[in-house]
Amino acid sequence: MTSHRFFLGALAALALTAAPAFADEPGPGGSKPPVAKTGEEVYRTYCQACHMADAKGAVGAGAFPALASNPRLGTTGYAAYIVANGKGGMPWFKDALSKAQAQALLTYLRTHFGNDYKEPVTAADVEAFGQTPTSRF
Ligand code: HEC
Repeated sequence: MTSHRFFLGALAALALTAAPAFADEPGPGGSKPPVAKTGEEVYRTYCQACHMADAKGAVGAGAFPALASNPRLGTTGYAAYIVANGKGGMPWFKDALSKAQAQALLTYLRTHFGNDYKEPVTAADVEAFGQTPTSRF
């Protein structure tokens, strides 16, 4: 009887002192790449390679129009449509960006780089112009 009690006590002590298992936690490195969330992050990740960091575009191997001080961004639907569906040499992003990312991106573009269109772009706006209706992130 005593040894039985001792055994139970030892088991309980073991359970309490056992180190928590973190084996499933991802270690540093080797994890998924970070997801671009803010409009600026989305721009840097998906757009600046062609439209340049200052959004002034470039002419070289192709012609990449400036998004800086671009009056076409005044119309919400224009950029929303192109981002969702692509145009000419520009790829489409309706499968690559979530609605939330497209909203953040377009709102950012409309209020930066010399553009001053303060009205935020809504989920309905990006959906209306073809952005994937389900938010992935
Ligand atoms: C692979 C290069 C490339 C990438 C990446 C790219 N674009 Fe473009 N973009 C272009 C080209 C080329 C055009 C011109 C298309 C045409 O008029 O035929 C364009 C046109 C545009 C226009 C229309 C500009 C105007 O004045 O008519 C907008 C708005 C735009 N891009 C926004 C974006 C945004 C926002 C992103 C990031 C999600 C992006 N682009 C990513 C190449 C690119």
